[in-house]
Amino acid sequence: MITTTGLTKVYQSRGREVTALDGVDLHVREGEVFGVIGQSGAGKSSLIRCVNLLERPTSGTVTVAGQDLTALAGRGRRAGKELREARSRIGMVFQHFNLLASRTVRDNVELPLEILGVTGRERTRKALELLDLVGLADKAKAYPGQLSGGQKQRVGIARALAGDPKVLLSDEATSALDPETTRSILQLLRDLNQQLGLTVLLITHEMDVVKTICDSAALMQKGRIVESGTVGDLLATPGSELAHELFPVGGTASGPDRTVVDVTFHGDAAGRPVISQLSRTYNIDISILGAAMDTVGGKQIGRMRIELPGRFEENVVPIGFLREQGLQAEVVETASVTVPAPLTKEVAK
Ligand SMILES: Nc1ncnc2c1ncn2[C@@H]1O[C@H](COP(=O)(O)OP(=O)(O)O)[C@@H](O)[C@H]1O
Ligand SMILES: [Mg+2]
Repeated sequence: MITTTGLTKVYQSRGREVTALDGVDLHVREGEVFGVIGQSGAGKSSLIRCVNLLERPTSGTVTVAGQDLTALAGRGRRAGKELREARSRIGMVFQHFNLLASRTVRDNVELPLEILGVTGRERTRKALELLDLVGLADKAKAYPGQLSGGQKQRVGIARALAGDPKVLLSDEATSALDPETTRSILQLLRDLNQQLGLTVLLITHEMDVVKTICDSAALMQKGRIVESGTVGDLLATPGSELAHELFPVGGTASGPDRTVVDVTFHGDAAGRPVISQLSRTYNIDISILGAAMDTVGGKQIGRMRIELPGRFEENVVPIGFLREQGLQAEVVETASVTVPAPLTKEVAK
């Protein structure tokens, strides 16, 4: 649904060049919630602004729903109308809501429809329908100043949906909200994703946001994507920083001739007594060094770091047993030698 290739953005700032995006290849599948996480200054906002051409990329391409926006933007005035229409199919939600204080809630939601040339009565019907969808039917006549932060963001989301977008972009939509309101807004985004089949690309600096609603995630550092994949694939990638942040299961081998394995459980596998079966089948003592269980994107996922006696060579069969049970099992450390992470952390798309 969203693809960028070699996306680069260089700002000219006080005679200096700032490279905010340095060759970003992003692939967001239709219907998924995709989170880009990274520290302040990593280039997240630049990325999302380039995706809807609010910011003109220095080089590279952006394709949304099969349409090459960068090509349209490069074709000058005549393609302007096409570009505007394509952009109206991309909703955008901002951290600070960006509502017009002098307009009622309903009029704020109507604004993009006005720009699209939708007539008065149809505009009002659509705005009221959207306000109902975000749970604000009773606030149509209120002004933004009379609303709480969470309510303002609901108006921002209703406005973003006015053009019937296939894609919703969210730049730190919950960063200005308290934890409880954050949860309710994230739940709303997830509901919209599922009810409308909306593809959501969100950026955040909070791992909890990724954990709560994302199907896939990418880690951004210094203008580059250094890891990306579905949450399940990331958790199965040895050395993945995102996996470690999502499920911090610490612990190192208690001595030489020990093999440390990270085991990831998905869905129904989480309910089966696999570890005790492993212990009984191979007559080995297993130590649990760390464990974490949580829901990611609405699915139950668990992760456990276990220690098996013996070197890796002696544990090939038990590790194979875990994998046969449908679990992901990745060797972290064996005989005090840390297994190197793969050269590229990019996992299967
Ligand atoms: N309009 C701009 N002019 C100059 N530099 C900018 C501009 N916008 C962002 N930058 C710089 O680009 C880098 C990435 O910024 P940004 O995309 O906002 O990152 P993030 O959203 O991850 O905090 C930073 O070094 C920032 O200072
Ligand atoms: Mg930002």
